[in-house]
Amino acid sequence: MEATRVVIAIDGPAGAGKSTVSKMLSQQLGLRYLDTGAMYRCLAYKALQAGLRTDQGVEAAVLLDSIDIEFGIGEPQPVFINGEEVTSDIRTPEIGEAASALSQYTPVRQKMVERQQKLVANGGVILEGRDVTTVVAPNATLKVYLTASLEERSRRRLGEFSAKGVAGSFQDVRTQIQNRDHRDINRDDSPLSVADDAVIVESAEHTPQEVCDIIVRHLQRVTGA
Ligand code: DC
Repeated sequence: MEATRVVIAIDGPAGAGKSTVSKMLSQQLGLRYLDTGAMYRCLAYKALQAGLRTDQGVEAAVLLDSIDIEFGIGEPQPVFINGEEVTSDIRTPEIGEAASALSQYTPVRQKMVERQQKLVANGGVILEGRDVTTVVAPNATLKVYLTASLEERSRRRLGEFSAKGVAGSFQDVRTQIQNRDHRDINRDDSPLSVADDAVIVESAEHTPQEVCDIIVRHLQRVTGA
């Protein structure tokens, strides 16, 4: 299959390494990279700025209509809301929490999924999130569920935060991730789950490059390339 048509969808809990692996594969395979979590984070950022609470999902969905989200090219991938760069503003634990809370609301999800499906429609993309294998791209060429233990994911997240100078203890990060998992897995609308035909990859057992190699082997298997 031509790289231009391929769609690789990767779901998994917070801190499983989805972003690292998706970005590496996007480079390696020449695919566009779509970070669907960043879109929920953008909405959360604007919602908090507008004074909304994180249980105001209906109001947040209305707000979304006035929010244009764009991605640039680079590492970290630049993110823009209505032309304003918010790349690092949306990466705080507070915004992650708010994104998780607002993402529970069906009006928010419907609008996000609609946008994301448009971005995926022409193929040639690797996308990651919490519902991309089940809802956004159920016909993806390859579906992957990337996971690791809570301990391992907490260790990684703590490392990412300290590299960015964000303070926090292991216990705090562990609790945050546990809460986020709980919410993402138990929400009523399209909860994080393993799609029937997804390949499950345990990221803690491998380096990021090894995870990419495993995914490429699965891609070759399903495309017969
Ligand atoms: O991947 P992330 O940490 O940037 O995602 C932030 C939150 O956004 C996540 O906890 C749940 C929500 N999300 C979602 O509901 N569906 C997606 N496809 C991606 C993210």
